[in-house]
Amino acid sequence: MLRTLFLLLSKAFWAQRMITRWGPAWRAASRFIAGETLAEALKVVGELNSRGILATLDHLGENTTHADAARLAAEEVMTALDAIQAHELRANVSVKLSQIGLAFDEQLCRENIKGILEKALRSENFVCIDMEDSFLTDATIAVYRWARQQGYDNVGIVFQAYLYRTAIDIQSLAEMGVRVRLCKGAYKEPPERAYPRKRDVDSSFDHLTALLFEISESQGMPRLSADGRVPPVPGIATHDAARIEYARRRADSMGLPRDALEFQLLYGIRRDLQSQLVAQGYPVRVYVPYGSHWYPYFMRRLAERPANVWFLLSNFFRA
Ligand code: FDA
Repeated sequence: MLRTLFLLLSKAFWAQRMITRWGPAWRAASRFIAGETLAEALKVVGELNSRGILATLDHLGENTTHADAARLAAEEVMTALDAIQAHELRANVSVKLSQIGLAFDEQLCRENIKGILEKALRSENFVCIDMEDSFLTDATIAVYRWARQQGYDNVGIVFQAYLYRTAIDIQSLAEMGVRVRLCKGAYKEPPERAYPRKRDVDSSFDHLTALLFEISESQGMPRLSADGRVPPVPGIATHDAARIEYARRRADSMGLPRDALEFQLLYGIRRDLQSQLVAQGYPVRVYVPYGSHWYPYFMRRLAERPANVWFLLSNFFRA
């Protein structure tokens, strides 16, 4: 119920205007967002790196509707790539294709992602394409496939365990050698497309984890690159201890070296788990969002966990 409410609010312009103007909202959101500027995000990445944790930088924004805004968003990602290189950080970048034009001009989106991938190539860096609502799944996969056909190997893609179609999508890309971030899925989807029950999503997540390990094995178990930027084939992106435990056991039973997978978590969530996994010798990457368009991202984080709503309200009473 609360999940649905917050996912609907994440798309409501009136709610965005109201909430982003309300001071305590940013205080609550800043638990999940590294800051409004690149400089703040770089500082967070530096701190993560000093704890032995890798990062992926996400300049927040989605569903851009103008060409200028889409080009500007692509330039922001390129600036982040330059900064990662200049500061010698162990980080790559994540991009939402709707931010760089996918929702209204696929050709423009292709030009923009090409520019980003070219820039990333120059510093041997890597770009992960986030996955958004299911109405963009086909288009997102098509742009990913196109980028690979253009010869860019420095690009990966996110898949969502809640969609019924995901195993088939992953298998259709396996031959190309695909680096995947697997997550549960954060959007409001109809039961015709996604498992409505959490236990089915969890079981799908485990099934897909096993599938990704098999794909990794068939590709000779590629490892994390020495500079921490190019991930191995499976990025297991969850804070769910049971899913992580399943992945660990499955990887061990297949003899997968620890750096042939990585665990990925969101900034501000389960810091204890991040440190535990690092201590166990696994690569851990934290997704570090930053920028002024934090509202939809924040609403999705509230939707995931009702307790976060009390966190928001407690900030209201402290105001
Ligand atoms: P689950 O929701 O079952 O949570 C397990 C436990 O994690 C909870 O019990 C709680 O302890 C903790 N937790 C989870 N969410 C929390 C929150 N918001 N606040 C506090 N604690 C929380 N989705 C998508 O659709 N497209 C994408 O591209 C991405 N990209 C992405 C990258 C990375 C690195 C991660 C970790 C996640 C994503 N996601 C995503 C989001 C993902 O789909 C999912 O919504 C969240 O990770 C929450 O689900 P969990 O797997 O953590 O499980």
